[in-house]
Amino acid sequence: MLEFSLSSAVADSADTPCAVVGVFDGVLPPAAAVIDAASGGALARLRESGDFSGKAGATLVLHGLEGIKAPRVLLVGLGSQRDFDARAFEHACDEAGRVLKGLPIASATIWLPALDMKGRDATWRVRTCALALDHACFRYTATLKPAGGSTPRLARLELVADADAQRGLDEARALARGVAFARELGCLPPNLCTPTHIAAQAQTIADEHADVTLEVLEREDMQQLDMGALLAVASGSATPPKLIVLEYKGADEAKPYALVGKGVTFDAGGLNIKPTGSMEEMKYDMCGAAGVLGAFLAAVELKLPINLVCVVPSVENLLDGAGYRPSDVLRTHAGISVEVLNTDAEGRLILCDALAYTCKRFQPQALVDAATLTGACVVALGAHASGLFSADDKLADELLAAGNESLDRAWRLPLWDDYRNQLESAFADIANIGGKSAGAITAALFLSRFTEGTRWAHLDVAGTAWVPGRKGYATGRPVPLLAQWLIDRSV
Ligand code: BES
Ligand code: MN
Ligand code: ZN
Repeated sequence: MLEFSLSSAVADSADTPCAVVGVFDGVLPPAAAVIDAASGGALARLRESGDFSGKAGATLVLHGLEGIKAPRVLLVGLGSQRDFDARAFEHACDEAGRVLKGLPIASATIWLPALDMKGRDATWRVRTCALALDHACFRYTATLKPAGGSTPRLARLELVADADAQRGLDEARALARGVAFARELGCLPPNLCTPTHIAAQAQTIADEHADVTLEVLEREDMQQLDMGALLAVASGSATPPKLIVLEYKGADEAKPYALVGKGVTFDAGGLNIKPTGSMEEMKYDMCGAAGVLGAFLAAVELKLPINLVCVVPSVENLLDGAGYRPSDVLRTHAGISVEVLNTDAEGRLILCDALAYTCKRFQPQALVDAATLTGACVVALGAHASGLFSADDKLADELLAAGNESLDRAWRLPLWDDYRNQLESAFADIANIGGKSAGAITAALFLSRFTEGTRWAHLDVAGTAWVPGRKGYATGRPVPLLAQWLIDRSV
């Protein structure tokens, strides 16, 4: 994680290994104008020659610019000033981060947060810029040899903005921690990232914060609580399941907010085994859990004046002679019976027991779950928006707003009763799959049966929580959305 601080340095005289300034297409904002003037018109000449016009996404590193104290100036194209909005701002920060990550420097000073933008104040610009740069500089290291050599790496970032943007920096620090936590856990391979490991990570959060307590329910506890669905998914793996319960007390008597996350540390599909090509990335099937734990960590670091619980059912979905089968009928904690028609629809099975448990035990004022739940959600929304489902319009609007504010966006899909008959079963109260059509919706509808009477929303993050491919990685979503939602609840 990067260290952040605010700065009021002036671009030509700043004592920094690299000064990062934005350039609009055809217009120099104040910091770039200072550099241009001090260097005798260097930026104007670059525009005239066509080397750097300020096109969105373009970058250029200048070395030893005459009249400028910093040995490097990184120019970042901002595109047209008229179209400059939140997304364009974030894009410019991402590009700056990508270049800075490759430079042999330990610190840099960035003037992008000083840019004017309609509707977004300095606090937002500082936070967004800090988070984008921290994101760009993330390096997974857990199972890699330490990089040799003595080349410095970016560790500190000074952001130029008014001193009243301090709050943005505090939020950025907490969010960056939550996001990094989620990304590290998400990337970790499934032989290391087991339910036991996730519980140990939750323990470190509790150890670090006096106002946080942890309880971990074991297989025997689940048996006593009649969590037949959670236990069934766990039955095919030698790795024991865990139900992780973190509690944070930041307010006196208020009812808690609750987060629940799907923690399947590997999803082979069970007897309905996934084909080659669909299984390799299923180590990421605990990214819902990583996301709610990361958001919990961010909220605790910010000492938000709320009460918060975070519940993570964690299991591995493998195959075994002792495993569960399609057509099994399970008894859940809620007392609802479930017919398993596909062992690969396991996320909703572990969540239904965790959700019912959370509702019953904590009576939360609102409950949000996050899960890499369906391939259908990826088909519907791709990688840009998480699927949002809720019967509560106000809660849905709060979450959509938090997604827009944090640029970790969600899109609402229907949760109408019209789809309910797809989940009918001849042998139980409900079946665990709803057939070919509307797969993300029927999965959400299944969950809704276990949260009745509670203000609840579900985020399907199957398309947003990781970038696929051999060089893919966990993104840390939906930590920004969830943390922003909790911040908004705290004012
Ligand atoms: N973890 C998967 C969902 C998933 C699939 C996420 C692909 C990201 C990419 C989930 O457990 C699953 O297997 N869902 C099935 C449900 C089906 C059997 C009703 C799916 O989406 O195919
Ligand atoms: Mn599955
Ligand atoms: Zn799964």
